[in-house]
Amino acid sequence: ATGLHNVAVSKGKLYIGTATEMYKLNGDAPYAAIASDINEFGMITAENSMKWDATERTQGVWTFAGGDDLVNWAIANGQKLRGHTTVWHSQLPSWVSSGGFSAAALTSIIENHTTTLIDRYKGKIYSWDVVNEPFNDDGTFRSSVFYTTLGTSYIATALHAARAADPDAKLYINDYNIDGLGAKSTAMANLVAQLKADNVPIDGIGIQGHLIVGAVPNNLQANFEQFAALGVEIAITELDIRMTLPVTPGKLAQQKADYKKVVAACKAVPACVGITVWEYTDKYSWVPDVFSGQGAALPWDDSLVKKPAYDGIVEGF
Ligand code: XIL
Repeated sequence: ATGLHNVAVSKGKLYIGTATEMYKLNGDAPYAAIASDINEFGMITAENSMKWDATERTQGVWTFAGGDDLVNWAIANGQKLRGHTTVWHSQLPSWVSSGGFSAAALTSIIENHTTTLIDRYKGKIYSWDVVNEPFNDDGTFRSSVFYTTLGTSYIATALHAARAADPDAKLYINDYNIDGLGAKSTAMANLVAQLKADNVPIDGIGIQGHLIVGAVPNNLQANFEQFAALGVEIAITELDIRMTLPVTPGKLAQQKADYKKVVAACKAVPACVGITVWEYTDKYSWVPDVFSGQGAALPWDDSLVKKPAYDGIVEGF
């Protein structure tokens, strides 16, 4: 098999995917040709256009244009979609983040947002990141407007609304720094165990996978196994492995080994269904904008040429 998605499928996984956005696909034909190639990518995530600030910036006023176009484009390519994301503290419009709601009012806001967004794409989404980044790095709950107003009940509220809106979508909780064992991963495992005990619908744990060259945890597989033991599937949802610039051959070689290591851990755990890279080319990565002095985190370079990391993914399978 050639192409990342084909290799993954040939080894029993569901997909390799990428995040993208329609405005980039429309404006960059060589970029779009790779993103739409089902041999490379069988799964698409909207990098921004399904987030709360993009879809319901003003209460009750909905904007679906970016998401709709991307969903239609992916389906036309024979690709599946991950929905990202319904309830998240970031990219949250100020009418929500400013708070001041009663518990009943915010619960209703969460239910309405989740229901309307997920219903829009009912039957077209493989999995939804229903709750994104609920934890701090020490494993305590993040003090978002949701948590400070509602405690942990907002998580069950969102998951129940999501299940009702699209019974066929797999419902995920997604977070970063839950790649290897540690306090934050333990907290995620405990949360999912509690949700299951409470009969709250939960199907998957999303491991974002924003990693650093030379610093990928060694106990990925043990952590993936602890998640799988809860009876949920797992996916790596936003993989990128950044380096301090400038790029050198040595860093590219280490990055190749790091991609291989992540893929091999997913391959080794049957519950790990697939891997999505957070954009596929360094040309459009979010990393340089957010992590000063860092970049080159993806398997294709700025010129859409495959890097050693690409071969690392293939070898990991
Ligand atoms: C990032 C996007 O890539 C950027 O374009 C945007 O400016 C900020 O958000 N965790 C997530 C993603 O769940 O939604 C984030 O995406 C990266 C971190």
